[in-house]
Amino acid sequence: MAYLDIQHLHKRYGQHTVVHDFNMRVEAGEFVTFLGPSGCGKTTVLRMIAGFETPSGGVIRMQGEDITACAPQKRGIGMVFQSYALFPNMNAGENIAFGLKMQKRPAADIRRKVAEALALVELSGKEAHYPHQLSGGQRQRVALARALVVEPRILLLDEPLSALDARIRKNLREQIRDIQRRLGLTTIFVTHDQEEALTLSDRIFVMNQGKVEQEGCAETIYTQPATEFVARFMGNYNLLSASESRTLLGLEIQGHLAIRPESIQLLTEADAGDSLPAVVRQRQLLGNIIRYQVESAGTLLQVDRLNHGPADVLADGAPVRLRIRRDDMREVR
Ligand SMILES: Nc1ncnc2c1ncn2[C@@H]1O[C@H](COP(=O)(O)OP(=O)(O)O)[C@@H](O)[C@H]1O
Ligand SMILES: [Mg+2]
Repeated sequence: MAYLDIQHLHKRYGQHTVVHDFNMRVEAGEFVTFLGPSGCGKTTVLRMIAGFETPSGGVIRMQGEDITACAPQKRGIGMVFQSYALFPNMNAGENIAFGLKMQKRPAADIRRKVAEALALVELSGKEAHYPHQLSGGQRQRVALARALVVEPRILLLDEPLSALDARIRKNLREQIRDIQRRLGLTTIFVTHDQEEALTLSDRIFVMNQGKVEQEGCAETIYTQPATEFVARFMGNYNLLSASESRTLLGLEIQGHLAIRPESIQLLTEADAGDSLPAVVRQRQLLGNIIRYQVESAGTLLQVDRLNHGPADVLADGAPVRLRIRRDDMREVR
C-alpha cells in the first residue's frame, strides 16, 4: 500500500479543467517533485492534497485512509508557500508555536518543541525576531520550522525557494533535503526550476496543462524524455523533425528525434570514419562548456564541448565532423 495514493484526481473551475486525471503513488519517506511551467496545475494539485481545494473528482488516500473530504487541519499536513506566509505581528517563536497552540498543547511542551524546531532549521537565538527583522531565507526557515513542528504526516512545499536569490536558494534547498532525510519525512516539492527538481528529487512528475507528462527518477527524466514537451522543458535538447531525421541521419521516425548537445561528438580530423560533415556557424561561451551551433545537411544542431582553453576553440566557418551514437538519439512523441 502506498503512503499517499491519488487516483483519477480532477479539478474544474467552471468550464475550465485545470487538472486532468492526475494519478500518483508516493512511498513513505520519498521526496517527490512536481515540475512544470507556470499555470500547469502544480499548486492546484498540492492544495487538493492539503484540503484547501475540493476535487471535482478522484480519491486521495493517506496511509490507507480516504482523506478526499477530510478538513485540512485533520490531514496531518505541513505546508510551506512561496511567499512567506508568516504572521507579521508575531515573532519567530510565536509563528512556530501557532499550530501547537491551536492544538492546545501544554505550554512546556510547546516551548520545548519550538526550541527543537528552531535548532533544526539553524535559527536558535532568533526566536524573538519578527519577520521584518529576518532575511528572506531566514523567514522561509521559520515557515519550514512552523510546518515541521506539528510533526506532519506529509510535508508540502509550494515553490518555497522561488523568491530567494540564487546562492541562498542553493543553500536552503540542501538544508531542506538534509532535514527531510534525517526525519524520513514524506515530501512533495513543487517547482518550475529543472535544476532544483533534478538535484533534490527521488522522483519527478513533469506536468503540462494539468496532466502528468512523465514520471521517473531525475536520471530517467533528463536522459530519456518521453515527449517533445519534456525534452524541451528539461534541457537544450536538439529536436529533429521526421524530415530532418531522414535527411540528416537516414532514420524514419514518427514524432521528433531528441539529441542532447553534450552527446554529440565534434571531431576535427579530416577522416573521422563514420561521421557527418558539418560547419561551425556560431559559438556561445557558457563557462566550463562552449555551445557550438553547427550546420549539417541544412539542419542546425547545438553541440556542447568542454572548454579546454583558447587554443581549442573552433572558429565560425570551421569544417568539422559529427558523431552521434544511436543510443543517444531518442524518439519522442
Ligand atoms: N480559483 C481559481 N479559479 C479559476 N481558475 C484557477 C483558480 N486557481 C487556479 N486556476 C487556474 O488553474 C490553472 C493552474 O493553476 P496553478 O495550479 O496555480 O498552476 P501552477 O501552480 O502550476 O502555476 C491556471 O490556469 C490557473 O489560472
Ligand atoms: Mg503554483
